[in-house]
Amino acid sequence: MDFKTQVAGTAGWGATSADALLVVLAGASLPPGLPKAVAAVLESAVEAGDFVFKPGHVFYAHRVQGLKAARLAVVAAGETASAKALRKAVAAGVAALKNGGTKDLAIAAVGFEALDATHGEAVVAAVAETLYLYRATKPSAPAAAKLASVTLVCAKAEAEAVDEGLRIGRAVAAGVELARECANRPGNHCTPTYLAQTAKSLGKEHGLKVEVLERKDVEKLGMGAFLAVAQGSDEPLKFIVARWQGAAKTEAPVVLVGKGITFDSGGISLKPGAEMDEMKFDMGGAASVLGTMRAVAELGLKLNVVAVVPACENLPSGRAVKPGDVVTSLSGQTIEILNTDAEGRLILCDALTYAERFKPAAIVDIATLTGACVIALGHHRSGLFSPDDALAAELLAAGEAAADPAWRLPLDEEYDEGLKSNFADMGNVGPRAGGSITAAMFLKRFTAKQRWAHLDIAGTAWKSGAAKGATGRPVPLLTHFLLQRAGR
Ligand code: BES
Ligand code: MN
Ligand code: ZN
Repeated sequence: MDFKTQVAGTAGWGATSADALLVVLAGASLPPGLPKAVAAVLESAVEAGDFVFKPGHVFYAHRVQGLKAARLAVVAAGETASAKALRKAVAAGVAALKNGGTKDLAIAAVGFEALDATHGEAVVAAVAETLYLYRATKPSAPAAAKLASVTLVCAKAEAEAVDEGLRIGRAVAAGVELARECANRPGNHCTPTYLAQTAKSLGKEHGLKVEVLERKDVEKLGMGAFLAVAQGSDEPLKFIVARWQGAAKTEAPVVLVGKGITFDSGGISLKPGAEMDEMKFDMGGAASVLGTMRAVAELGLKLNVVAVVPACENLPSGRAVKPGDVVTSLSGQTIEILNTDAEGRLILCDALTYAERFKPAAIVDIATLTGACVIALGHHRSGLFSPDDALAAELLAAGEAAADPAWRLPLDEEYDEGLKSNFADMGNVGPRAGGSITAAMFLKRFTAKQRWAHLDIAGTAWKSGAAKGATGRPVPLLTHFLLQRAGR
């Protein structure tokens, strides 16, 4: 998909060479200054009740006199003319057009304040999100939309900022797409080996250094917690390390650690059957880390970033780890595995210890970690945990800027109580109450010397129900976090 800007006022719409014009209207009535032909059509549509100023409402007309574009679609954005409203409106407009013959779409926003980078980014996100379709294991999926090019009409003074927004939007969308493509693939396709191959081809394409550790390497290192989770499955584990060097070698990198459980059955602490298929999405953290690496590389960020992905399956078998088993983590701390379904923290703790070797400026882990986080925050905001106020503020701000928001939850030492064990340095679960906090407290024990934050994306990485599928979150948040850090 090609995204560009075109400098033109409303008077210039008639001449746009696109084959469809999508006009996004903010406000509660027809604004003045619309081209005559468009105004006439819309006035009569409003009068007839065929166009209403309800967010997402789309009006369509063919061959409007005075417009070179064969198709005119008008979509209402509502009264708050924000980038978020623009995004929702463009998504509705593109959804209405995507099954038609439109190849080249021009979008004009009316009633918005000066367009800037956030608007550019919002348009790309809306188009990419609306056109995405999973095909990998569904040959009967409909053919791709014909739409190949999108032009955002703006004023001369806006063009530079909007163009930067389009650039960022394209990179984020590419990252989101990679994350969705990985996470949507079923567990028998998206295995740890598949994740490792994806990282390798990403590396080849974008100049990342990718290293994949195998079981024997992980054994030699002493990742007893990660190994305990992986031991129940015949699918080989992978420990993936991908490095983007955009700054001087001496500059401390940001390390992103992504939970890569390609299927979580719960292990011996087996999950109930209902919706268990959704546990193929339990590698959403890993997928978002790989997606973010793609975005970082496409943007050529002047920053060093390391992706660390521990990947395996969590299955019950004759070799599987059992409740009560005690293992020694890479950090040397011992863990009593009271519940084999709390496996995410086990693979992450060893990855977090491993991350120390990069002497990072900050470590952020991303994980579909707890059902409790879904109870706390639902599906809109990811859970954010960090003992570091400045780092937490950076990540929260990035989430707002990216329209991929998070919400901070506490890490008071009182919550650590629940992890006590009579047989090891800690148990891997606490009480049910505050379950996402105890999970984060567990990880905190492995990051004492680091600037660290944890994102629990259990509620945001995928959707259930009719629209079941991966969202690609939090690639936008992470990319904006790194953009900020790179000074862009
Ligand atoms: N992958 C799950 C978390 C999860 C559950 C994400 C439901 C999305 C929806 C994780 O490995 C898990 O099973 N967590 C347990 C922890 C518990 C045993 C302390 C949970 O949340 O039930
Ligand atoms: Mn689990
Ligand atoms: Zn899990």
